[in-house]
Amino acid sequence: MTEILAFALDTARRAGCLLREFADQQHTISHKSTVIDLVTEADLASERLIVAAIRTQFPDHAIQSEEGLGDLGAVVQQAPHLWLVDPLDGTVNYAHGYPMWGVSLALAEADEMVMGVVYDPLRDEIFWAERGQGAWLDCRGNRGTRLKVSGTAKLQGSLLATGFPYRLASLADNNLAEFNAVVPRAQGVRRAGAAVLDLAHVAAGRLDGYWEKHLQPWDWAAGWLLVEEAGGTVTTLDGRPWSLRENNMAASNGLMHDELLNVFQHTIVGKEWRSPWVTS
Ligand code: IPD
Ligand code: CA
Ligand code: CA
Repeated sequence: MTEILAFALDTARRAGCLLREFADQQHTISHKSTVIDLVTEADLASERLIVAAIRTQFPDHAIQSEEGLGDLGAVVQQAPHLWLVDPLDGTVNYAHGYPMWGVSLALAEADEMVMGVVYDPLRDEIFWAERGQGAWLDCRGNRGTRLKVSGTAKLQGSLLATGFPYRLASLADNNLAEFNAVVPRAQGVRRAGAAVLDLAHVAAGRLDGYWEKHLQPWDWAAGWLLVEEAGGTVTTLDGRPWSLRENNMAASNGLMHDELLNVFQHTIVGKEWRSPWVTS
């Protein structure tokens, strides 16, 4: 294990521990882009811990983190060493006490993802990958099961996950059209509300695939490497190779990838969709 991976595992665990402690307390909730886009004290405390740890250990590395305590904004910049940090993925779940949330840390070197860690503090599961070394899961202190994507070959037998953007009320391209198209063709489609765990579960073969639109690089970076290192496929919804600058992602075990993309190809995104919540 490299020194940098050991650091990332330790930092994700420490952040997860802090989040677990905060989860039992009352926390202040503020709104970001929309009334359903939340940030809690816990997001900020976790991000403070992670950013401080990276700055101490790797002072010359750049950090892009969701709550903006890192040094880069939302647009992906190229840097020799770039950390992508989601200090608490699944904030809405966390605020409601719904047990699906996690921490995600990834490191890109000159735009190539070299390491990714996703920690699920409630199950004490830590998923990790280094480029070329496979994807692994440590569970409740037990070292290393190698992860492998599932063997489901057809959409009809697949369990998939997706999510919706916080701006779905005002956005025509809000994934509801794709959702409607996929649901009747799959065995099940889940919307559990934590993209980093969705991707980790694709890598672990618990889900056969995942897609989503309009997320940020920190939501996808670590999970991307996990899925690829577990033998899966990650592209855009129209089949191009995925990169940090893309705003949509389809990840799967590879076997039913084309079938899934084919559904998206024939989905017509409603231009007239109006949310019942928007009154003006
Ligand atoms: C959210 C989660 C969710 C996805 C949202 C994301 P956050 O991240 O990953 O699954 O559907 O769109 O923004 O805000 O909880 O870090
Ligand atoms: Ca997130
Ligand atoms: Ca977050």
